[in-house]
Amino acid sequence: MRDPTARHRVTPGALALGIGAFGLAMLGLAMQVSAAVGTGPAAPASRAVPKASSERNATELGFAVFQQHCVGCHGNKAYARAPSPAALRAMTPERIYTALTTGMMKSVGDTLSDQDRRRVAESLAGQLLGSARSGDASTMPNRCRRNPPLRGISGAGWNGWGNGLANWRFQNARGAGLTAASVGRLELKWAFGYPGGTSAFGQPTVVAGRVFVGTDTGYIYSLDSRTGCIYWSYRTRAGVRNAMTIGPIDTQGHRSYAVFFGDLKSNAYAIDARTGRQLWVAHVDDNFATRVTAAPALYRGRLYVPVSGWEGFSAKVLDYPCCTEVGSVVALDANTGKMLWKHYSIAERPHPTHKNSRGIQLWAPAGVPIWNTPTIDARHRALYVGTGDASTYPAPTTSDAILALDLNTGHLLWSRQIYANDSFIVGCAGKGFTENCPKVIGPDWDIPMSPMLTRLDGGAMTAIIFGTKPGDILALDPNKRGKLLWRVNIARDLVETPSAGGRARSGRSNLGPLWGGALDGQNAYFGLNAGGVVALSISDGHRIWYTPLDTKANRGVTYSAATTAIPGVVFVGGSDGRLWALSSADGHPLWSYQTARAFSTVNAVPAHGGSIEAPGPTVADGMLFVGSGYGVVTGIPGNVLLAFSAH
Ligand code: HEC
Repeated sequence: MRDPTARHRVTPGALALGIGAFGLAMLGLAMQVSAAVGTGPAAPASRAVPKASSERNATELGFAVFQQHCVGCHGNKAYARAPSPAALRAMTPERIYTALTTGMMKSVGDTLSDQDRRRVAESLAGQLLGSARSGDASTMPNRCRRNPPLRGISGAGWNGWGNGLANWRFQNARGAGLTAASVGRLELKWAFGYPGGTSAFGQPTVVAGRVFVGTDTGYIYSLDSRTGCIYWSYRTRAGVRNAMTIGPIDTQGHRSYAVFFGDLKSNAYAIDARTGRQLWVAHVDDNFATRVTAAPALYRGRLYVPVSGWEGFSAKVLDYPCCTEVGSVVALDANTGKMLWKHYSIAERPHPTHKNSRGIQLWAPAGVPIWNTPTIDARHRALYVGTGDASTYPAPTTSDAILALDLNTGHLLWSRQIYANDSFIVGCAGKGFTENCPKVIGPDWDIPMSPMLTRLDGGAMTAIIFGTKPGDILALDPNKRGKLLWRVNIARDLVETPSAGGRARSGRSNLGPLWGGALDGQNAYFGLNAGGVVALSISDGHRIWYTPLDTKANRGVTYSAATTAIPGVVFVGGSDGRLWALSSADGHPLWSYQTARAFSTVNAVPAHGGSIEAPGPTVADGMLFVGSGYGVVTGIPGNVLLAFSAH
């Protein structure tokens, strides 16, 4: 077997060239030269930011290109020699791009725009073109001078997605070191640029005075929280869109702390928190269209990994054998990465149904991805996740639902469906309908956020509270198999009633919150896709306040990103890149900062902020951290991590 990495190692500068004939010749030359250099340690890369394919949701767009232009052969038995989709996913983006521009796939590549060639290469590889070397810590001027052993991890920090097993996204007064009175003094302390990055979608974790963050370029970074100096980088097999969780690990006869996370090719990892050394990697799903987008949860030596996917983005293309991707939760032994159980979100495995008019075999049931971090309920020995819609018809009863799984066995304890009959594939509605589409198209009302586990009535009752795309906020009783405690709709009540201070919006069904709410023991706080932030009492869902955040300048801004709370303050970022701190007592703005601009960075990488549309800010020890530049569908791209301090 030839060594693909040797043949295709491309210097970052080369890909920044245009692709006229001259550019292609240069690209070929650069590849030969770097091949001759061999596989020794990476030379310091040039500072130039390599040009990545697209500015935003390249993954989805690239997968659409794959479904439209590649899958007719790759994954089709009639083309036995064509590498399988899974084999393509194991290749570097440079190898795929080169195959399409100058290699054996040139005839196919010639029918695509260069942007589509880049998109498909990057989304299959799960990495950005040119990112392999430029992201390495060894190329950066801000190395930390010392790397002492980690002091305990129990001090002030923000660990994982929800900062605790209950996923409240809350930081207490001592941990926050910030108050409603001091938040107005927050100032930018440092900025760190992700070389070549275009989607700053990793939520920063802060533990033991260090920040741990994943990137779309496939690098994990460990930085000093005060100065932004870099301890190490670690190169993953694909981009990492979730938050890191730090916890103890007993491995190879050695006890230390590990960083746990998952990537866009369905791998889970444990790496040493002090050094960045790899401890284990586990592949959690064999279907090539699955990925890990939400952070795993760590509890008592087990890592619970949620699996989502990307099949539903254009499976309507008749060349595509729709659909086989199914969401799941996987439990791994945190010390070894060994799989203990896997629970699929659909009880039945996909089986062949019928062939479409192109002779392509279709499959069902499929879909029901899991987009959120599991919430751990130690008392019931259960975990809770929200599920997405189905990609085939009919939708199973576990779609758009809350699932409760047994922590030990992964067995389904109970499920409660919030929206029935939601089968959905992008582009199938109306004129876009094809034979691959679900017979009846649903509203696409996944439950994207983690359920928040809390006590009500002074501790007498337990509830899980979460919001949904159309704006329903629900509280379910986990003691009674998810029985409904209360349910309100904030989109109808607020957004479509301008007299209530809301915006008039019609014809859109996803006006509600998306990626996460925050809870402080009294109220729950949600940003709204339709604009503004709302606070509800967790006891019965009644509204405490609503702040539209509407000015002439930010009309149309969406607040789909997760909110974050500390005593007295709730934080939310907007699609325009502005980060807000609001009083949790009455919702009035205390502070705001426009992140959608250029920043000079501690690592001398050109960096720009953009939309804040999925993860939220994290707060620890008087500082606030946020990644800026993730516009899920139409927002502003960016590649910067920002650290603010009130001192
Ligand atoms: C008409 C069928 C067909 C289509 C369409 C097609 N491929 Fe291929 N592809 C093949 C075959 C056959 C091979 C194996 C060729 C060989 O090994 O001789 C291959 C090989 C490849 C390789 C391996 C190159 C290497 O370095 O080993 C890549 C990468 C690839 N294809 C990507 C793509 C992408 C991306 C698309 C869509 C944009 C695509 N192909 C569309 C048939 C196809």
